[in-house]
Amino acid sequence: MDLFAGCGGLTLGIAQAAHKRAVALDVRLAIDFETAPTKVFKANFPKANVREGTVESYFDGELGASLTNQEAETLAMIGEVGILIGGPPCQGHSNLNNHTRRDDPKNRLYLRMARAVEVLRPSAVVIENVLAVVNDKQQVVSRAIVHLKKLGYDVATSRIDLLKLGVAQTRKRHILLAIREDALPFGFSAADLLQIEDHKAASRDLRWAIGDLFGVRPKSFFDEAAVPNADNQRRMNYLFENDEHNLPNEERPECHRGNHNYTSMYGRLWWDRPSQTITSGFATMGRGRFVHPEAPRCLTAHEAARIQGFPDYFKFVDERVKPRYELTRTEVQVIIGNAVPPPLAEALTSRLFDADVLQASGGPSQSAEDDFAASAVSLAC
Ligand SMILES: C[S@@+](CC[C@H](N)C(=O)[O-])C[C@H]1O[C@@H](n2cnc3c(N)ncnc32)[C@H](O)[C@@H]1O
Repeated sequence: MDLFAGCGGLTLGIAQAAHKRAVALDVRLAIDFETAPTKVFKANFPKANVREGTVESYFDGELGASLTNQEAETLAMIGEVGILIGGPPCQGHSNLNNHTRRDDPKNRLYLRMARAVEVLRPSAVVIENVLAVVNDKQQVVSRAIVHLKKLGYDVATSRIDLLKLGVAQTRKRHILLAIREDALPFGFSAADLLQIEDHKAASRDLRWAIGDLFGVRPKSFFDEAAVPNADNQRRMNYLFENDEHNLPNEERPECHRGNHNYTSMYGRLWWDRPSQTITSGFATMGRGRFVHPEAPRCLTAHEAARIQGFPDYFKFVDERVKPRYELTRTEVQVIIGNAVPPPLAEALTSRLFDADVLQASGGPSQSAEDDFAASAVSLAC
């Protein structure tokens, strides 16, 4: 079950781990309140039970209270859940959000995950967020931990570096893992199971992620860079004409000059380094270091999706059946920027399968993701 599911980056990671073990996966419920990511989720997981709505409307009870009528209905609809995963919105915690950070009402959505655990009692729970979630004024992480422990879960948290999971991007995430005590294998703790970083993994660079996409003929806006305004085009040309990766002060807009910490803004990427964190601003040079290493343009949606760790078989825009679902360029950018890189959930779930926290039996013999993964793999081959 996937809450705040977006387009399904976390679910895709689980599907990949399950598929490698020939395990059928059944997405009992995926919820997101935005239409555009929900469309992408449905297109990629056609048999999943995907709902467009708020998480609070399915889990509307107070922590510690008995189940509400709605929650009893949700439980009856879903039944037993092996893994509950979710990435509540994180704008309120983000250090990039100077106005509302640390005391945003949205941050309380983190605790809806704990309430969903209380209702469903899954074997494993994963809550993904930005590192700064621990600075939240309402202390949502500590409160969730206390509550989950009361419910009989072993809980651990970690700062996971996605570079150490093979993602070609500097991105670190805060992960909370909770395992129901009776599902915890002998000799293991949640903290052991959260050790997923591979310190020997070779750091991947941008060329590894997108080198083959340079010069592809676009079939849609997915492979076309956004058209910049004249000032930004001139700035990009400057970077190439002067063989620079950082734009000097005098070339920046006035409000960005002087002493600033925004060196990466208006910057150009390097082939032989990982990308900076992909955000929904990847198509605009003023939103980060998003200029392509070899051409005076910003990243395309396809390149950003690759850097996020999405395989090409995952459909953001279906170019064969036009338009199978209609999304704007901006919607696709937001969806990709908000997504959680699938290798994160793949690494975590693999560990849970290998330690027998998640069982390979008991599910339906055939499921949406089984079909999906099989077709996806054949497409990838
Ligand atoms: C960080 S994104 C999730 C990314 C997703 N977990 C993935 O793996 O790709 C957060 C998502 O939460 C959704 N959202 C925000 N508030 C919500 C709410 N109250 N109920 C349901 N969805 C919500 C947003 O539309 C957004 O798609």
